[in-house]
Amino acid sequence: MQSSPLLFSAAKRLEGKVALITGAASGIGEATAKLFARHGARIVIADVQDDKGHALCSALGPSVASYVHCDVTNESDVQQAVDATVSHHGKLDVMFNNAGIIGEPCLRLLESEKSDFEHVVATNLVGSYLGTKHAARAMLPARRGSIVITASVASVIASITPVAYTCSKHAVLGLMKSAALELGQFGIRVNCVSPYALPTPLAMKAFGMGEEEHATLKGVRLKAEDVAEAVVYLASDESRYV
Ligand SMILES: NC(=O)c1ccc[n+]([C@@H]2O[C@H](COP(=O)([O-])OP(=O)(O)OC[C@H]3O[C@@H](n4cnc5c(N)ncnc54)[C@H](O)[C@@H]3O)[C@@H](O)[C@H]2O)c1
Repeated sequence: MQSSPLLFSAAKRLEGKVALITGAASGIGEATAKLFARHGARIVIADVQDDKGHALCSALGPSVASYVHCDVTNESDVQQAVDATVSHHGKLDVMFNNAGIIGEPCLRLLESEKSDFEHVVATNLVGSYLGTKHAARAMLPARRGSIVITASVASVIASITPVAYTCSKHAVLGLMKSAALELGQFGIRVNCVSPYALPTPLAMKAFGMGEEEHATLKGVRLKAEDVAEAVVYLASDESRYV
């Protein structure tokens, strides 16, 4: 009997895949790591919050998840995280460049400092560039792979987010488009997810957002798990032409 698309999507959609997720100790990255595990992927969790990262690995189990300390602003950390993934699992199928910071929350352009601007750009943009570059290097031999970057609603509009955050999230769209153009010929896909606001530690700290304050769509409250569902789709072969 032929399986229907509905049955296909309920199955383990990432069976056999190896994924590296930055910023996976918390929020969207953590929810994605958990959902990837449910869909059969093996995951390397990369973050600077070592205790939280190790705790998530223990919860998911040592055969499913491992942790690597990785500051995405540091090229050798990113390179080592990719190399450790390949030496442990023999390959890299999915790279989720998700680590991000908002910077000083209420800082407007006129009050902002160059150092803060640079730190936000180094994390959100340069970190995604480094992850994309080193993941692509590891994916090239297999001529396939999926790279996903966490952009934001701040990638397309300017709103309450600080200027550095808005700039960095606009720029990751350029990174995604440029990398997709260059890497598509090698079978490597590059996409973004662009969430609206949801109450992760990042947003709760920056905007005083409460656990119950979520963007709504006809009564549906946006959660990290909803973003994770989109990332599973982009990581899976279901999105092979996206
Ligand atoms: N929460 C929202 O409303 C929202 C909306 C749109 C986009 N985003 C984006 O989602 C991504 C995840 O954020 P979140 O909301 O889950 O917040 P979060 O604070 O829960 O998670 C961010 C994670 O990134 C890690 N991180 C920060 N700097 C790092 C570095 N230099 N190297 C490695 N890891 C680092 C943190 O330790 C943390 O675990 C970010 O890119 C953020 O900009 C969030």
